This record gives sequence, structure tokens and C-alpha cells, in this order.
Amino acid sequence: MESRLSIWAFGLVLFLLVGGENGGVFGSRNCGFPAIFNFGDSNSDTGASSSASGEHLLPFGITLGKKSKRITDGRVIIDFLAEALGLPYLNATVDSIGTSYKHGANFATGGCKISSIGGVLPFNLDVQISRFLRFKSRTVALYEQLNNNSTNPAFKSILPEPEVFSKALYTIDIGQNDIAYLFDGQNPPATLDKFYISIQRLLSNGAKFMWIHNTGPFGCMGSKHLDSCKQDGSPCPDADEHGCVKNLNIQAQLFNSELKDRVNRLRAEYPDAVITLVDVYSAKYSLFLNPKNQGFDEPFKFCCGVPGSFCGTRELEIAGKFADNYERAKLTRPICKDPSKHISWDGVHYTEAANRIVAKLIANGSHSDPPVPITEACRKH
Ligand SMILES: *[C@@H]1O[C@H](CO)[C@@H](O)[C@H](O)[C@H]1NC(C)=O
Ligand SMILES: *[C@@H]1O[C@H](CO)[C@@H](O)[C@H](O)[C@H]1NC(C)=O
Ligand SMILES: *[C@@H]1O[C@H](CO)[C@@H](O)[C@H](O)[C@H]1NC(C)=O
Ligand SMILES: *[C@@H]1O[C@H](CO)[C@@H](O)[C@H](O)[C@H]1NC(C)=O
Repeated sequence: MESRLSIWAFGLVLFLLVGGENGGVFGSRNCGFPAIFNFGDSNSDTGASSSASGEHLLPFGITLGKKSKRITDGRVIIDFLAEALGLPYLNATVDSIGTSYKHGANFATGGCKISSIGGVLPFNLDVQISRFLRFKSRTVALYEQLNNNSTNPAFKSILPEPEVFSKALYTIDIGQNDIAYLFDGQNPPATLDKFYISIQRLLSNGAKFMWIHNTGPFGCMGSKHLDSCKQDGSPCPDADEHGCVKNLNIQAQLFNSELKDRVNRLRAEYPDAVITLVDVYSAKYSLFLNPKNQGFDEPFKFCCGVPGSFCGTRELEIAGKFADNYERAKLTRPICKDPSKHISWDGVHYTEAANRIVAKLIANGSHSDPPVPITEACRKH
């Protein structure tokens, strides 16, 4: 009896050791990321442009029934990824009043590019990373000061602990505006060289886990589709079989193949880092393959604005009326009945309904290299 028990106990210990390593019953494969630091453009902006260039008024946020600081009707992909990681939604660092960065911070800003030329706001990728490095060094300095102090200052509840910076997931989604501005006269390789240098700055400063999105099929977004086709419903001359503008998608694919090359070089240069490359292009493109099956009755018709009259974020503010009145705002804007039936919110940005599906498609790793779920993106494969 005694020896059977000890054999059983030995077996249990062995199981815990081996099983724990490989994520057996008792071992969790979940990385338990304590925070997300995000960089990018409007696709993942959760408050930067609304803070830096004027609040986004209704109908932006209309699906949530309130202003959401995002450049769409509701939530963006990074919100759903944060949910998947069990973390709160990210706050923009430029939107600093009443917000907390305990579980990460968002540097992504609408209209921004990898290229440092031009842009709607001066927060292109390299500037976002400089702002992050300053955020990090100030945070670490504040905690160092605290070690010599018995007080418990307010910043502890709003700033991450210093060790969080090496445990966090760093997420990046940028490039759509480089394509929209045709690489500012440069080419995709030169633009991705800049991307490479920016990511080196993060990896050289302690970032270990990265989740990098490639760029989506910009040629499938409504405004570009309608711009290049006759508006009388006749077929678009430059469309592929699903109705997306070919040339713009070719640019996106060129971008993505250069991106893949730079990611591979970064992996070689930083062998201790875990870098996941996510094929957001194919996840977003899949929405257009069979839109009706996914609940999108109007795949190319955008919800807010009409061709030639962009659904600007500040239009209502300029009008000076109805700014906070949900019902009247609805009446004053040409918006669709049901945003969830559309993929495109305004001809450039995806609706919350589309973002939710894309987030679900990518979160489990089925579009990733290596193919690991976001919750496990700290493991080497
Ligand atoms: C963003 O700020 C809100 C309000 O302070 C806070 O509840 C939330 O946890 C913050 N998000 C992160 C990721 O820290
Ligand atoms: C904290 O105390 C240590 C040891 O006394 C000292 O070396 C360090 O400079 C102090 N840090 C700050 C921020 O005062
Ligand atoms: C404790 O913090 C205060 C305020 O930041 C600072 O003035 C003081 O020098 C600190 N004390 C020590 C021992 O570091
Ligand atoms: C990932 O999620 C998508 C969407 O829910 C699903 O279609 C796909 O089968 C899942 N893949 C894996 C590997 O779990």
C-alpha cells in the first residue's frame, strides 16, 4: 500500500513536471500578459486623435450609444484582443486625464504612418516609440524613487510596475496610411526599412513579446472602391472577382511581403524575443469572400457619409449643434440604418461588427506565424 502510494505520488510529480512544461492539465499555457503596449494608426486608435485633433462626435460611437474616441461606430480590433487577454481597454497616452496605464498604454494615432513625412498628426511610428520610451523611463524612475520612500503615491495605481515592461505584449498595426499616401513617393522596401529600425528600438529596450499585424486589403474599403468605379452600378474596371480594387491590394501585398522579410530579420537579430506575425490581410479579405453569410448585406456600401462627402469626425462640432444628442445626431447625418450590416464604416475604417469578426479570426492564432493564440504569444515555437 505504502509503495503503491509512493509510486502514485512519483507519477504525479512526473506528470506535473512534464505536463506543466507542455501545458498539461495542471500547467497553463496562458502567458498571463500583464499589459499591452500598442502602436499604429486609426485601426487601433482608442483616443489619441480624438484628444489631439478634436473629439470624435456622434455618429462615431453610435453602436455603443456614446462617444467612443475611436474612428468607427464602436470598438476596434485591439479592444477585442484586450478582452481576449482578460485586460481592460487601452487608453491613449495623449488622452491623459482620468485614465490609467496600469495594464498598458496606446500610442496608436489615426492618420499616422511609418513614413515620417507628413501625416494628419505628428505621431508617426518613430515618434510613437520615442513617446513610449519616455513613458517607460519616467515610470521606472518614479518607482525607483518610491523604493527609498515609505509613502504610497497615486501614480502606483495608474502606472505599470517596472517589471511589466519586459512581460507585456507589444502590438503593432500600421501601414494602411503609407499605402493610402502611396508611400510618399518612396517604395515599400524603404518604408519597411524604417519600420525595422523602429521595432529594433523596442526590442533593444526590453520588449520581448511582439504581435505584429500586416496591413489589410485597402482596395476592399468602400471609398476606394467607389472612387474608382462608376457610381451608376456598372462594374468596376480595376476590381477583382470579389469587387476589391486590384492595384491597391497589390500595394498592400508588396508591403506585407517586405514586412515578412523584416520580421524574419528581427527574429534572427533578437533570438530571445518572440515575434508573432499576424496575417490580418487574409482575415479581413475573408469578409469579402462571402459577406452575406457573415451578416453583411452591403459589403462595399459604407455606413456613414456618401462618396465625395467623407464622414468627418468633427463635422457636427463644426456645425455647432446636436453634439451630444444621440437622436438628433442620427437625423443630421446620412448614416445607414444598421452599421452591423456593413463592413465599412466610412469608406476607410471597418465597422465594429467587422472588427469583432476579424479579432475572433486572428485571436486563436489561425492567421499567425507561428500559429499560436494571442494568449500564448510568449512561447517560442
Ligand atoms: C484605462 O483607464 C480606465 C479608467 O481609468 C481604467 O479603468 C483602465 O483599467 C485603463 N486601461 C488600462 C489598460 O490600464
Ligand atoms: C535610492 O537609494 C539608493 C541607495 O540608498 C540610491 O543609490 C539611489 O540613488 C536612490 N534613488 C533615488 C531615486 O533617490
Ligand atoms: C520621497 O519622495 C519625495 C517626493 O517624491 C522626495 O522629495 C523625497 O526625497 C523622497 N525620499 C527619499 C528618501 O528618497
Ligand atoms: C479560430 O477561430 C475562427 C473563428 O471563430 C474559426 O473559424 C477557426 O476554426 C479557429 N481556428 C482554430 C485553429 O481554432
